[in-house]
Amino acid sequence: MPIKFLDLAAQNQEIGARVESELQRIHDSTSYVGGPQVAEFENGFAHYLGAQYAVGVGSGTDALRLALIAAGIGPGDEVITTPMTFVATVEAIYQAGAMPVFADIDPDTGAISADAVERYIEAENFSSANGPRAILPVHLYGLPAGMGRLMEIARRHELTVIEDACQAHGARVYVDGGWKRAGTVGTMGCFSFYPGKNLGAWGEAGAIVTNDAELAERVSVLRDHGRLSHYLHRESGYNARMDTVQAAVLLAKLERLEQWNSRRRAIARRYCELLAGCGLQTPIEPEGAESCYHLFVIRSPRRDQIREALVRAEIGCGIHSPIPLHLQPACAELGYRSGDFPYSEHLAGAVISLPMHPHLTDREVSMVVDTVAMASRAQ
Ligand SMILES: Cc1ncc(COP(=O)(O)O)c(C=O)c1O
Repeated sequence: MPIKFLDLAAQNQEIGARVESELQRIHDSTSYVGGPQVAEFENGFAHYLGAQYAVGVGSGTDALRLALIAAGIGPGDEVITTPMTFVATVEAIYQAGAMPVFADIDPDTGAISADAVERYIEAENFSSANGPRAILPVHLYGLPAGMGRLMEIARRHELTVIEDACQAHGARVYVDGGWKRAGTVGTMGCFSFYPGKNLGAWGEAGAIVTNDAELAERVSVLRDHGRLSHYLHRESGYNARMDTVQAAVLLAKLERLEQWNSRRRAIARRYCELLAGCGLQTPIEPEGAESCYHLFVIRSPRRDQIREALVRAEIGCGIHSPIPLHLQPACAELGYRSGDFPYSEHLAGAVISLPMHPHLTDREVSMVVDTVAMASRAQ
């Protein structure tokens, strides 16, 4: 039997009845955009994260773009981010009119290195008029970046911090003497609810979370054509609203998120135990960081052989991502070259993601491990 990388059908079986009753409400109200479920989900998600406000938008990319614009980041400003992320992180910076600047990753966690960020800032060799105005850390694969140090650097240099939490629903990080959810530490946190995420919709959706009332108001106006009331537009905005069907699905799945994340964490522990001694590197959680294991990513110099063996055994796998952003054609105008970010380049050449979803059975985990272990040891 093939082993799925991700099993959305199994999720649907759990939430089917709840979604059906929400869809009936939408059918009856015909409020397809901005229906009551959007606000219900926003409130529920903010409460779950321990944030004051959540604003539903059309996608994670919308969330990042609107967060940057609301923070006043635009032409002439640099935003420091990581080359090891999905291209949307950088697209949002471009779309806000700002310039992305990369800092290499911490080789152990894969997240942006606070040391590299600090080195860039202190070298003062900026390419844009205003220099850096924001740091955009990405909680890669569900593991929170080192937020304590990043926040401290941001405070010292008066930079905004916008978290890309698109892969980190429910992950936790210890900062300022307490545990917080990823996405609630910086000025704003951005989430994607793309279907395969830990909290995934049945289409495109995203959210911005913040504790700042003014920013929450600004992004809610921006997402809806700059509208203050139906025919009154304060500014030129965007069509970046969350539709009601997505909110209905997310409301149902939000109730399961904690349970699904703890199953993901149990699967990750099992993978780590069984893969120990196989000559590959399993993900780590540094002290003060708790991953929600959106992806379970191992590293091996024999990555390609492992992938071939998994494909042959009909086991789903993925490579997230084989090309770091500074080497993508989409970022060519930034002028980076191979060798500029060696840790990112090394990671991109070694990673492979194994099946990870809350409905994966222990037996399936053992079968994946057997295949990986054999391919990892074979000469
Ligand atoms: C790290 C990261 N940032 C941003 C995004 C963009 O989210 P969306 O696809 O919802 O626009 C994603 C989505 O995969 C992501 O993984």
